[in-house]
Amino acid sequence: MKLEISNMSLIDLQNIQDILLTEFDNFWSYTVFENELKNSNSEYFVAKHNTEIVGFAGIWKSLDTFHLTNIVTKISKRNLGIASALLEKIINVSKSESATSLTLEVNENNFNAIKLYEKYNFKKIGIRKNYYGQNKNAIIMTLFFT
Ligand SMILES: CC(C)(COP(=O)(O)OP(=O)(O)OC[C@H]1O[C@@H](n2cnc3c(N)ncnc32)[C@H](O)[C@@H]1OP(=O)(O)O)[C@@H](O)C(=O)NCCC(=O)NCCS
Repeated sequence: MKLEISNMSLIDLQNIQDILLTEFDNFWSYTVFENELKNSNSEYFVAKHNTEIVGFAGIWKSLDTFHLTNIVTKISKRNLGIASALLEKIINVSKSESATSLTLEVNENNFNAIKLYEKYNFKKIGIRKNYYGQNKNAIIMTLFFT
């Protein structure tokens, strides 16, 4: 699939505003994204196939420690390499901005996401108990660049 990865603009966000929950099953509201786009420590990307937005992802930059905050592929377009393309972009941006690591939390039952991160050499470094609610633990995974 031919993909173009670019920085998420406010117009991109408005284009997916009404389908964030239904077609991406994303847990963030439009307002959260709008604030993230204004945050100078954050950077968000969209993957487009022709003009259709088929995925998005973002990072939060804290000194040399970067955090993957969100990565989602449109439900109808999963398992086609879209999240891989977004993650590769984020890894390249992190390296080019001299990050020493890229960290994320993932639900311990989200096997597809864990496979995605393991494919790019993220290592399980810890657990946050009840991070997503009672008995719903998060695994902390980190990709080290040094
Ligand atoms: C997790 C998610 C982002 C993966 O997106 P995707 O575009 O389908 O991922 P890709 O097609 O790039 O697949 C990447 C790897 O993940 C694994 N994977 C993804 N979907 C899979 C599936 N349905 N079955 C098995 N493995 C899968 C594979 O290892 C795959 O690599 P490979 O094809 O080289 O074997 C997507 O399922 C999603 O949006 N889920 C909901 C949001 C979410 O959970 N985000 C992560 C929050 S931490």
